[in-house]
Amino acid sequence: MTSDVYGIFGAGGNGSELLPILQENFNKSKDKDKKIFFIDDHTSKKSFHHIKVIGRDKFKTLDAKKKKIIISMADSKIRESIYRDFLDDADFINLISKDFIISSSSEVGFGNTIAQKCIVTSGVSLGNFIQLNINVSIHHDCLLEDFVTIAPSVSIMGNVQIGAHAYLGAGTIVKQGINIGAGSIVGMGSVVVKDVPENSLVFGNPAKVRDLK
Ligand SMILES: CC(C)(COP(=O)(O)OP(=O)(O)OC[C@H]1O[C@@H](n2cnc3c(N)ncnc32)[C@H](O)[C@@H]1OP(=O)(O)O)[C@@H](O)C(=O)NCCC(=O)NCCS
Repeated sequence: MTSDVYGIFGAGGNGSELLPILQENFNKSKDKDKKIFFIDDHTSKKSFHHIKVIGRDKFKTLDAKKKKIIISMADSKIRESIYRDFLDDADFINLISKDFIISSSSEVGFGNTIAQKCIVTSGVSLGNFIQLNINVSIHHDCLLEDFVTIAPSVSIMGNVQIGAHAYLGAGTIVKQGINIGAGSIVGMGSVVVKDVPENSLVFGNPAKVRDLK
């Protein structure tokens, strides 16, 4: 095989939502030689949404001009482990919906997935391997570090900083100027009005630190 091959890691819900975004980009590029696979070692499915599912080892041995990886898993630690595993073998592309609105003064790293109806305004820095799910808005001068995961319909006001591997649940609203610590989890529907400590769980309106153990 001498064409490029695209691997979507994770034959699950987010993978199924990312596939049409990838296919839409293909249709635009007119490049008919590219091939898509789902990569998943934890399913018995042979195909998913009419796309062949193969294991990680099989993907490694595929003969391709270039392997291009998209990681759909919401678990940021899994995203990081895949990155480390394929560091020397593949490109980690940005998979971005064509309706994405971003200011020219904002920047996006690599390995990110950005679903439909997302808006990023001015002076925003998005790191690498970030997931922006559907309908996320990020306002001016925010910083999102690597491996951050943002669930659907989250609104992040200006000057917010979000540390690596943090997770923001669906529908969360973050007040301007807030710091959300690395590795923290913000439950769905939260209104975050105070800084969130690293590796903590917060939820509610207003969001408060919770200990569910
Ligand atoms: C916060 C969260 C991580 C906690 O998950 P969990 O540890 O499994 O917690 P549980 O579901 O066992 O709930 C524990 C308690 O917290 C409450 N709770 C959980 N999440 C809550 C939330 N977001 N807001 C308010 N209360 C919440 C539950 O009602 C329960 O209360 P109880 O003890 O009085 O019955 C989870 O509820 C959440 O919000 N995940 C994000 C989901 C999401 O955004 N998915 C998007 C997919 S794309």
